[in-house]
Amino acid sequence: MRRIYLDYAATTPTHPDVAKAIRPYFSKAFGNPSSMHSFGQEARIAIEEARDKVASLIGANSEEIVFTSGGTEADNFAIKGIAYANEGKGSHIITSSIEHHAVLETCKFLESRGFKVTYLPVDEYGLVDPQDVKRAITDKTILISVMHANNEVGTIEQITEISQIAREADIYLHTDAAQTLGHIPSKVNDLGVDLLAMSAHKLGGPKGVGALYIRKGTNIISFIHGGEQEKRRRASTENVSGIVGFGVATQIAQRVMEGEAHRQNALRDKLLKGLTEHIEHIHLNGHPSRRLPNSINISIDDVEGEAILLNLNMESIYASTGSACSSGSSEPSHVLLALGRSKDQARSSIRFSLGRETAAQDIDRVIAVLPKVVASLRAKEQISLRSKLSLNGAVKLRNDIRKYEEENHTPLLCRLGGLRCLTCAASGMGSGCTLAKWQLSKAREIAEKRANGQVC
Ligand SMILES: Cc1ncc(COP(=O)(O)O)c(C=O)c1O
Repeated sequence: MRRIYLDYAATTPTHPDVAKAIRPYFSKAFGNPSSMHSFGQEARIAIEEARDKVASLIGANSEEIVFTSGGTEADNFAIKGIAYANEGKGSHIITSSIEHHAVLETCKFLESRGFKVTYLPVDEYGLVDPQDVKRAITDKTILISVMHANNEVGTIEQITEISQIAREADIYLHTDAAQTLGHIPSKVNDLGVDLLAMSAHKLGGPKGVGALYIRKGTNIISFIHGGEQEKRRRASTENVSGIVGFGVATQIAQRVMEGEAHRQNALRDKLLKGLTEHIEHIHLNGHPSRRLPNSINISIDDVEGEAILLNLNMESIYASTGSACSSGSSEPSHVLLALGRSKDQARSSIRFSLGRETAAQDIDRVIAVLPKVVASLRAKEQISLRSKLSLNGAVKLRNDIRKYEEENHTPLLCRLGGLRCLTCAASGMGSGCTLAKWQLSKAREIAEKRANGQVC
């Protein structure tokens, strides 16, 4: 059976041309780019070529690109680097409540070090209102960090509008572009950002490499100290093979991005339409039109997202309940809660993210399989709900009996075997309530008779 991978927002397969390009840097071209000899210079040239390619994709100058170990480090660098470099000016940061943990946890860390952070709310589609950004600015604000597109629901934020506000107030603007680089246009001058975080493995590059764009003239300090690599902005011997792979991945993305965006958009819409037609009580999470071309996030009432995932996995279909970094956490997604979804709706969500290898037949198969999975899970959920209800009913009735006993100083429960009804209910047969009701009415009847002296 064909394995259908629909979790490209978590990571993408390394493109074969990328894999081919990086291979020599593990063997004959293994030099340290800081070395003066030919081995070193070969590696140095490869890094600088990759830097040009990455810069070209975002319309930046090559000197404005600093390679990092991934998107997480790029976010950390941007936020901590600006915070510590501009402490003299202020200590207030504005971000959104739906950021990736790479941003949120960095902001929380800075809060523990005395910085003040405003976490802006989003609307029901996951959009930050630029006017909220404007209202949150104080004379202490040094940085605004709003992601380009959300990794869970795919909503594309209004970065250009936010950048106008940041510019007027002379505040640095950072955007996390891990999900947009190579998927939608992400030119730094069109967006108007000062800092932009990138991750290679989201666009067919290797894992463990990324970059931070830093606009020329930005006051930022490094937070990894050591050697003089990356023009003293990020110490440590460069990940040469990773950087070369990142460069090739950006080059490929530049070539295929527009066509792929159209193709994936159509497949994504077909998937959503097919699922909506075949599954009742299904809700799209995220913005209906301002969204990434490759991803949809849906909540399906009365079923757990994780249960859907496991069932799809058995059918060789691989999706996600949200961020790969928080899967395994029993907490509902902070993004979906911020969009106003209930905890239940958040727990019943599933994300499908498409990629270059996704074919029309894959989408047809999901449309055929998922409705059956949902129907079967809903049927099981009905049975367990019924037993839960009957258990709740039995507990309430037992409490009524106890209350009756206390008020009337009459022990009835053990005499009438009241606990048995609980056992019945717990077995899920649904007969507990009926039995308990009968017992309560019988108890009352006996108590009345006893009060009237009819029984001893
Ligand atoms: C929006 C966003 N930011 C940051 C990251 C972290 O990137 P990396 O895995 O390269 O550290 C991810 C990856 O899931 C992401 O989706």
